[in-house]
Amino acid sequence: TPPEQIRNFCIIAHIDHGKSTLADRMLQITGVVQPRQMRAQYLDRMDIERERGITIKSQAVRMPWQVLDETVALNMIDTPGHVDFTYEVSRSLAACEGAVLLVDAAQGIEAQTLANLYLAMENDLTIIPVLNKIDLPSAQPEKYAEELAGLIGCEPSDVLKVSGKTGEGVEELLDEIVTQLPAPEGDPDAPARAMIFDSVYDTYRGVVTYVRVVDGNLTPREKIAMMSTKATHELLEIGVISPEPIPSEGLGVGEVGYLITGVKDVRQSKVGDTVTAASAPATRAIGGYKDPKPMVFSGLYPIDGSDYPDLRDALDKLKLNDASLVYEPETSAALGFGFRVGFLGLLHLEICRERLEREFALDLIATQPNVVYDVTMDDGSEIVVTNPSEFPYGKVAEVREPVVKATILVPSEFIGAVMELCQGKRGQMGGMDYLSEDRVELRYTLPLAEIVFDFFDQLKSRTRGYASLDYQDAGDQAADLVKVDILLQGEGVDAFSAIVHKDKAYAYGTMMAGKLKELIPRQQFEVPIQAAIGSRVIARETIRAIRKDVLAKCYGGDISRKRKLIEKQKEGKKRMKNIGSVEVPQEAFIAALSSD
Ligand code: GTP
Repeated sequence: TPPEQIRNFCIIAHIDHGKSTLADRMLQITGVVQPRQMRAQYLDRMDIERERGITIKSQAVRMPWQVLDETVALNMIDTPGHVDFTYEVSRSLAACEGAVLLVDAAQGIEAQTLANLYLAMENDLTIIPVLNKIDLPSAQPEKYAEELAGLIGCEPSDVLKVSGKTGEGVEELLDEIVTQLPAPEGDPDAPARAMIFDSVYDTYRGVVTYVRVVDGNLTPREKIAMMSTKATHELLEIGVISPEPIPSEGLGVGEVGYLITGVKDVRQSKVGDTVTAASAPATRAIGGYKDPKPMVFSGLYPIDGSDYPDLRDALDKLKLNDASLVYEPETSAALGFGFRVGFLGLLHLEICRERLEREFALDLIATQPNVVYDVTMDDGSEIVVTNPSEFPYGKVAEVREPVVKATILVPSEFIGAVMELCQGKRGQMGGMDYLSEDRVELRYTLPLAEIVFDFFDQLKSRTRGYASLDYQDAGDQAADLVKVDILLQGEGVDAFSAIVHKDKAYAYGTMMAGKLKELIPRQQFEVPIQAAIGSRVIARETIRAIRKDVLAKCYGGDISRKRKLIEKQKEGKKRMKNIGSVEVPQEAFIAALSSD
């Protein structure tokens, strides 16, 4: 297809504003999916993938659309919805010329709408503002058209009004995509360059890579090279998705599709990387490539120590489909053998943990997530800390922690509540704008560590669920941070060490010591629990001694009952961990690590 007859676009929206429904409607209206095959949210259906044994989690679908007497190929590129995946979102946007900015006509603009809009503008995309769900009785299209127009600087009458549910206005939207968006530009005679915007592992076919061709063209059976690694692969298959994969004789300038080389690990086909022809490689990669950088770390331990090899195998499998997952073995005195795992953010952590538990049937303990700290010592040496228990003792000159730029949208009555929360979380205000008279956008720079803790829950509860939040990595900042250790009878319990702001150290120490006092059963001797910064104790609790003598109860009596009791105790012992001479049931650790 010549570039003049191609339009590449994505839909950006806040969660639940109806992106999937609109995408489905477009597939149906363009005839790509027949009504009888139509199932709700065609693009989202993982079970279809499994049934057919091929990945059609269509990251990019091609739809023919006729305007006047010309047929145009519309490529709709899907974008991941969550803040943890900002980098993937930015690469998907970079593969497009324009974006449909979709806003629920009963809700108005939300934080994710804004965050995605900013990313789209950074990528110089043409923005088509659209209000969705106009069929809803509660829709206020006039009010929100004004809000949207104010935001992107157009007339309220330029805002399209559609219903993904009924299909109203969707044909006009498709026409507008063709007329408003520029056709892709590129040099057909230059060495081939294509940008990878997604890469998915498929059990049957290996890695399926989604690309947007910028210059030249790629043809099946040629040798291709990945520009970041210089690795070469044979191009086994190339084609477009519409809505099934359709192999083709090649992809040219502006085209979007998939390619298969037989590699088995998404790390060999990385999002953001440039694909070129091995025989006549391009000299310059397409800009914007970044190695995925884990932002949040957590220790993952099997509850049953004998599951450790299974946990390792499960992580190895997850990694095939997840280029941003990193892990290395770790041993904890309290929790045994496990892994320190790095994630892009909290949601990524939750997804991975759930998959490990569900798909691999593992019972896991996760330590409190922490961010990565850069520590500079007085002698100038630098240490990167991904586990609080590794925080150095001795002369620390400076500690730096990651910060994010957060966008928070709230009804104006909650401004005070949000500001108070952000200040309590060491936030610095960057600005505030009224989107309309009763809705406000607040911008803050916040330490990621504070967001990882319980920021989102607090934000929701303080604004009765009305606030929306989105954030982006914003480098790092020096802060007055210390490590708080928790000691049982003078012995440190590694899983509970935390790096916290100096002003919050005392609160953390008393909270943890108090929790453990409740959770650890009495021993035959007194057990002090201390919280300490270095050698300075900042909080203390004591577990009183008890004479534990279970057998005394059945003196002289039934010998088999006695034996049973001993067996039972042994059973229980297996789930006990010794910290020094203190026996702690594993449940106590699990309970203490859970966030409430
Ligand atoms: P995620 O995929 O979860 O990010 O959400 P989404 O933005 O894709 O929204 P989705 O398409 O799943 O729609 C969210 C909800 O809104 C669903 O319950 C839809 O049925 C409903 N919905 C979507 N479009 C319309 C519409 O035009 N009118 C009405 N009345 N409801 C709609």
